[in-house]
Amino acid sequence: MTTDGMLATHCYRTGPGRMPLVLLHGFPLDHRMWDDVVDLLPGNGTVLALDLPGLGASPSGEDVADALGAPGEPSLDTAADAVAATLRAAGVERAVVAGLSMGGYVAMALVERHPDLVAGLGLLDTRSTADDDATRANRLRIARAVLAESEVDAVLGMRRTLLGATSRVLRPDLVERLEEWICSQGPAGIAWSERAMAGRPDRTAALAGFIGPGLVLVGAEDQFTPLAAARRLAGTIRSDLVVVPRAGHMSSIENPEPVAAALDTLVLRVEGT
Ligand code: MLT
Repeated sequence: MTTDGMLATHCYRTGPGRMPLVLLHGFPLDHRMWDDVVDLLPGNGTVLALDLPGLGASPSGEDVADALGAPGEPSLDTAADAVAATLRAAGVERAVVAGLSMGGYVAMALVERHPDLVAGLGLLDTRSTADDDATRANRLRIARAVLAESEVDAVLGMRRTLLGATSRVLRPDLVERLEEWICSQGPAGIAWSERAMAGRPDRTAALAGFIGPGLVLVGAEDQFTPLAAARRLAGTIRSDLVVVPRAGHMSSIENPEPVAAALDTLVLRVEGT
């Protein structure tokens, strides 16, 4: 756990000559959801994954906000500022940034707030729009529940719903992995993240201004951010759309091979520009 508000940074590998690839995880998880993808990534460039505020080994959202002098309210802007500060402290001034779901929301906030950092953008199983009222209310209810119960039960059902229909039937090992990862998160971090996501604005206009190479990827069986949402996102950043078969919202663990190939192509496109 860091004490200076910097986010826990997991350096999967370091290598010269290629633009660093920075991976941002989904909710309610941490960097481990990238392990399978990184194992399959070709090349020898630097690959970093950060734990977002309050999750994994990162400091709490409140401590991160304090260290940055950010407003006290949970916010993905604070998460994005913390990613930027952490990368700059590690000597990374420009990177290919890829985020899955909540990680994608943070990557979009980074594009808006720290555009100089983002040389290429990967948006996986995510959306640029804000929540509707019902989704926002549900997030705030879950935040209250995990804090009141000091347990993560209110989000434990996600160990199944994050997966696509194929994985739910054929991959009980993935349900177990997600359960282990979800249960290892603290209720405070889960509540902070839900509140931060509930308050996020629509980033479609900011994204439309992004001019670097982009990737939009979605699991064919994703129920959280379905194909139609991914198509709209691809239109916004003028990116090709990669649809991952036999995968739901957790494409990075359900079918990591095409995810690794798509990220590698993105890094190569950034280097070719
Ligand atoms: C995620 O996987 O990060 C979540 O589904 C994001 C969300 O709740 O919107």
